[in-house]
Amino acid sequence: MRKKKIAVFASGSGTNAEKIFQYFEGRQDVEVSLLCCNKPGAYVLERAHKYHVASLVFSRDDFYHGTSVSDKLKAESTDLIVLAGFMWLVPDYLVAAFENRIVNIHPALLPKYGGKGMYGMHVHNAVKEAGESESGITIHFVNNRYDEGDIIEQFSCELDPNDSPEDIARKVQKLEHENYPKVVDNLVLKY
Ligand code: GAR
Repeated sequence: MRKKKIAVFASGSGTNAEKIFQYFEGRQDVEVSLLCCNKPGAYVLERAHKYHVASLVFSRDDFYHGTSVSDKLKAESTDLIVLAGFMWLVPDYLVAAFENRIVNIHPALLPKYGGKGMYGMHVHNAVKEAGESESGITIHFVNNRYDEGDIIEQFSCELDPNDSPEDIARKVQKLEHENYPKVVDNLVLKY
């Protein structure tokens, strides 16, 4: 059987990307073949290098008006695109080319705390502000609107009234690291 190919898209530090590189390292049936990044100098590029994953850095113009990203994904025969802390809206041409084959992780229980501007600590600050008794993660398909694609799986954690936004971030990140690679694995094997 042909090896399944994953492309990870990330914009920043890339702790989730690294968990995915680690998880699939040495697998015969699935390979993370590419890291796509919109920020030259992002730390995720070093993480990719460490795991011998090739990377592609692109500009806003390349992504929204060029063909370099889709050409590369086609050349790699990419089966699944995994967004891991990727902060740009995915353009229509890519959503159409990879229908139900682009997944994202969001650090809250959607549909709460999603949408434009809701990322990173903004999410955890809002959860704290609202006095929520739980938070969690949502893994969902990507469409051309922020955080609105069909939900694949959610995982939740209890919050203590004394938890700071940083405590919430830590609990949520733990859920991300434990669950995202496994959910991606189950999904990619279906293609
Ligand atoms: C993760 O918490 C991810 O859920 C979030 O960015 C972080 C990236 O961390 N994504 C979003 O907020 C998308 N709206 P990482 O670079 O350490 O993986």
